[in-house]
Amino acid sequence: MAIMKYIVPALLASSLAFAANSDNCDGSSKPITIQNQGDADALSNCETIQGDIEIDKNTSGSITLNGIQQITGSLTADGAANISSLAAPQLASIGKTFKLNGIILLTTLNFDELTEVGQIDWAALPNLQALSFAKGVTKAGSVSITNTGLTSLKGIELDTVGDFDLTANTALSEVNVNNIKNCTGLLNFAANSNKLDVSFPNLVSAVNITFRNTSSVSVPSLQNLTGQLGLFGNSFSDFAAPNLTKTGDLVFDNNEKLSNVSLPKLTTVNGGFQMSSNKDLTSLTVPELKTIVGALDFSGSFENVSLPALEQVKGGFNLQTTGTLDCSPFEKLHSDHVIQGVYHCDAHVAKPTTMNGSGSSSSSGSASSSTSSGAAVSNMGKAPAMGLTAIVCGLLQLLM
Ligand SMILES: *[C@@H]1O[C@H](CO)[C@@H](O)[C@H](O)[C@H]1NC(C)=O
Ligand SMILES: *[C@@H]1O[C@H](CO)[C@@H](O)[C@H](O)[C@H]1NC(C)=O
Ligand SMILES: *[C@@H]1O[C@H](CO)[C@@H](O)[C@H](O)[C@H]1NC(C)=O
Ligand SMILES: *[C@@H]1O[C@H](CO)[C@@H](O)[C@H](O)[C@H]1NC(C)=O
Ligand SMILES: *[C@@H]1O[C@H](CO)[C@@H](O)[C@H](O)[C@H]1NC(C)=O
Ligand SMILES: *[C@@H]1O[C@H](CO)[C@@H](O)[C@H](O)[C@H]1NC(C)=O
Ligand SMILES: *[C@@H]1O[C@H](CO)[C@@H](O)[C@H](O)[C@H]1NC(C)=O
Ligand SMILES: *[C@@H]1O[C@H](CO)[C@@H](O)[C@H](O)[C@H]1NC(C)=O
Ligand SMILES: *[C@@H]1O[C@H](CO)[C@@H](O)[C@H](O)[C@H]1NC(C)=O
Ligand SMILES: *[C@@H]1O[C@H](CO)[C@@H](O)[C@H](O)[C@H]1NC(C)=O
Repeated sequence: MAIMKYIVPALLASSLAFAANSDNCDGSSKPITIQNQGDADALSNCETIQGDIEIDKNTSGSITLNGIQQITGSLTADGAANISSLAAPQLASIGKTFKLNGIILLTTLNFDELTEVGQIDWAALPNLQALSFAKGVTKAGSVSITNTGLTSLKGIELDTVGDFDLTANTALSEVNVNNIKNCTGLLNFAANSNKLDVSFPNLVSAVNITFRNTSSVSVPSLQNLTGQLGLFGNSFSDFAAPNLTKTGDLVFDNNEKLSNVSLPKLTTVNGGFQMSSNKDLTSLTVPELKTIVGALDFSGSFENVSLPALEQVKGGFNLQTTGTLDCSPFEKLHSDHVIQGVYHCDAHVAKPTTMNGSGSSSSSGSASSSTSSGAAVSNMGKAPAMGLTAIVCGLLQLLM
């Protein structure tokens, strides 16, 4: 009897343990939750996790996910402020989202085998300075990295990407994304270190690129954009896109030191072309520019704007400058119907404004107001560009 008394519960316990074990790798109907290293160790027999793993908020210290090679769903640690290090030494792929949010103490991320992720979504990781990703992530549907302490993106070695958004990483001073040839989503850099040098040496085509607050941008191979190329609040004096032939909206706003813009092969702006609050930009030549589908809308201190190949401006023309500029070439283009729609060209203007009245070097140099005026002047050209963006991004999401 006494023996039975112990055996039965032991059997029960072991069968329970077995039951738990057989589906302990399945997080498909309900995420597998981890609160401590013991919970993580209980998954070490799972080469593949079907579904999701969630690391609980109250988890602290070091967590290592040993043995797991694949997570078909997401790996999430949202609000687990006290995790100091997170590792998954064998993990090669995460099917959906790799989400880390608000992990204030996190200093170490060790994912040496990780190469493929559906989405990287990291925010508020102020103490994370470097990634320890020996192989490097080469495929990611999208990447969003916001408010981290990262000083470089070593470990993110993408070949293809959809959206790529780097915002408010104040220690990030260098981004050199060597392998990307084609970016199918929104490429956005904003408010990172004010000494951020961005280099995309092999990027040929992209949808929509926005650079804010960078100190240099290198896009030597860039040929085509279907959406916007926007440069806002950068500190460089030179911008060159030597191979760019076509873009959607083209916007240069509030780049205070910009004095030399080189777009030697640009033929088509499939949207509006806006320049505002670039106070050192006195001379601009775009030698091959033939077509502007939206408006040309320049305000600034130009002395000379030369667009010798211009054949068509469909959405109106506004050029206002404090400088001494000869408007007669544009007047002729207007009377020849090369420039269609509203037409203003004024030199020696005390307070030049863009079409919708935003002033020069106003603090509205801020992103939104200038973007919206940029968008407004180019309504006509914008519709197709946005349509394409939506389609490409939509495709991407389907793929994921
Ligand atoms: C982190 O640790 C501190 C100190 O032990 C504690 O007060 C806080 O509640 C913990 N945070 C979380 C999210 O568990
Ligand atoms: C963590 O929170 C869960 C509930 O979310 C609770 O069951 C568990 O006891 C907590 N663990 C610790 C170590 O505080
Ligand atoms: C870029 O990628 C998209 C989506 O994969 C594809 O449709 C497009 O043809 C590619 N463009 C180039 C120039 O490779
Ligand atoms: C620029 O484009 C030409 C062809 O249009 C190509 O031969 C050249 O390699 C490109 N330059 C760069 C830096 O990609
Ligand atoms: C860019 O556009 C031009 C003109 O439409 C086209 O000939 C060229 O193949 C495109 N290049 C890329 C890389 O998409
Ligand atoms: C490009 O991205 C910006 C956000 O940075 C957005 O406001 C704009 O509508 C996008 N333009 C296109 C043509 O996709
Ligand atoms: C970034 O640039 C924007 C203009 O696009 C400006 O308003 C903002 O103050 C800048 N932010 C930083 C952190 O430099
Ligand atoms: C402007 O930039 C282009 C291309 O980088 C360069 O060839 C040219 O010399 C520069 N012009 C001046 C005045 O600095
Ligand atoms: C304006 O720039 C063009 C091209 O650089 C040049 O040929 C022309 O002489 C300049 N005009 C004036 C008035 O400086
Ligand atoms: C800009 O002007 C256009 C036409 O003049 C107008 O339709 C549009 O609403 C204005 N946009 C803004 C943001 O004021």
